[in-house]
Amino acid sequence: MAAFTLLQLLLLIAIPVFGAMNKTGSLCTVTPSGGKDDSTFIMDAFKQCGKNGQIEITEGDYTIAKVMDYLNLENCDISIRGHLTWNDDIQYWLKNSISVTYAQRSTAFRLGGTNVAIRGHGQALFFGNGQKWYDQNRNNGNQAGRPISFTLWKANSFFVDGITWRQPQFWHTFVAYSQNITMTNLDMNATSNSQWSTVNTDGFDSWNSKDITIKNWVVTCGDDCISIKGNSSNVYVKNVTCHESGSACIGSIGNNAIDYVDDVVFEDITAIHSSNAAWIKTYPASGGHVRNVTFRNVYFQDVNQPLYISPCIYSYSNCDSSRLKISDVLWENITGTSRYNVAAGIHCSSAAPCTGLKFKDIDIKPKNGGTPKFLCSNMNSDSGLPCTGSCPASWKQQLNGNA
Ligand SMILES: *[C@@H]1O[C@H](CO)[C@@H](O)[C@H](O)[C@H]1NC(C)=O
Ligand SMILES: *[C@@H]1O[C@H](CO)[C@@H](O)[C@H](O)[C@H]1NC(C)=O
Ligand SMILES: *[C@@H]1O[C@H](CO)[C@@H](O)[C@H](O)[C@H]1NC(C)=O
Ligand SMILES: *[C@@H]1O[C@H](CO)[C@@H](O)[C@H](O)[C@H]1NC(C)=O
Ligand SMILES: *[C@@H]1O[C@H](CO)[C@@H](O)[C@H](O)[C@H]1NC(C)=O
Ligand SMILES: *[C@@H]1O[C@H](CO)[C@@H](O)[C@H](O)[C@H]1NC(C)=O
Ligand SMILES: *[C@@H]1O[C@H](CO)[C@@H](O)[C@H](O)[C@H]1NC(C)=O
Repeated sequence: MAAFTLLQLLLLIAIPVFGAMNKTGSLCTVTPSGGKDDSTFIMDAFKQCGKNGQIEITEGDYTIAKVMDYLNLENCDISIRGHLTWNDDIQYWLKNSISVTYAQRSTAFRLGGTNVAIRGHGQALFFGNGQKWYDQNRNNGNQAGRPISFTLWKANSFFVDGITWRQPQFWHTFVAYSQNITMTNLDMNATSNSQWSTVNTDGFDSWNSKDITIKNWVVTCGDDCISIKGNSSNVYVKNVTCHESGSACIGSIGNNAIDYVDDVVFEDITAIHSSNAAWIKTYPASGGHVRNVTFRNVYFQDVNQPLYISPCIYSYSNCDSSRLKISDVLWENITGTSRYNVAAGIHCSSAAPCTGLKFKDIDIKPKNGGTPKFLCSNMNSDSGLPCTGSCPASWKQQLNGNA
């Protein structure tokens, strides 16, 4: 008996020293260990309080040295006030990041389950030590094993709010095989301080998911800001400001797959010094479609090529054989300055011409003056876009000067 009590006493004393996770009823409280790997404590909290419980990741600096993967959350409230830093052991992450199937990509942190709220209170910080990744990656795209910062996977009814990202390793967020996802008040910034750029640090990508709301985001990143990828439907994006990025984008889709994108609304989007503003990119594919998309109230400054459609992104070949059909897309109240004299470059595949494209209240001015060009091919003639000429199949996403 005495030995048992002594053991209990030792355990109680030991908790604050060795452990950074403590459970009281259905509440798991995580505190930082001060420089050691804290991922095991956070994982422990998911395991012990992830079902019908509450998790508090309290203020302080956490080191994340291992992948975190937990897909069985259920009725759980997660509150994060701490600063989480993913360490820069590139060899570890290249070997151990969790596969997310899509284009052989992987992630450092993945959550799934049902009915979960993750609140960052504007205090949570996810710091990815991305500069190490940008430097070793040397502008190469999509390095295998380079991890996405945060992935929702088979997540149903998740609410994510008030988290700040800085220097993510790769994409900031990815939502796959998920449904009814709301992500609000997120602040993201990937900016390189070396000669190497932040390539592939997308703000958001969705894939095989539906019923998604994104609201009140500010994103600086080296690639697509908000990107809706294959088999996504019913996505609503509102009040997002994108810097240095691809802004509001559908794609890329149709890469060796039959992909569908349906019912997407982008509203109140601002794009600053970005490559594109409201655009659609697909690979040449034997089928699939993009249908019923709205880009509304888009304002931008100094955007390389604001409105753009390509059926043959990156390769710029077999463009006119693609059967991936783009239809019923509305651009409404689109205002801003283009970097060069091209406001729109739209080439639809001649094998599956675009139908039901509509442009209303478009006011795009080249930032250095002059008349904007609207280049259009293989699309409905009643679109409202004042086409000034045809758009070659091989027309690039980014221009180097006036056309
Ligand atoms: C465990 O967490 C509770 C708050 O939930 C706190 O009051 C208590 O001091 C913690 N105990 C230890 C040993 O850290
Ligand atoms: C969608 O998810 C939210 C949590 O973000 C939840 O409150 C709501 O009940 C869910 N709706 C449906 C139809 O499941
Ligand atoms: C993103 O971070 C860079 C580097 O710290 C900074 O210069 C830039 O202003 C930030 N962007 C925004 C929109 O705050
Ligand atoms: C738009 O989002 C920004 C950034 O989160 C926020 O500061 C602003 O209040 C939002 N605007 C509206 C009208 O909700
Ligand atoms: C998209 O859905 C279709 C039909 O359900 C399926 O054939 C295709 O494999 C899916 N695409 C991807 C990339 O999962
Ligand atoms: C188009 O998408 C919007 C918004 O998601 C939706 O409300 C509407 O019903 C869709 N229209 C059609 C014809 O499916
Ligand atoms: C057009 O979009 C701008 C933002 O770019 C917004 O301020 C304005 O209210 C919108 N106009 C209408 C009629 O909705």
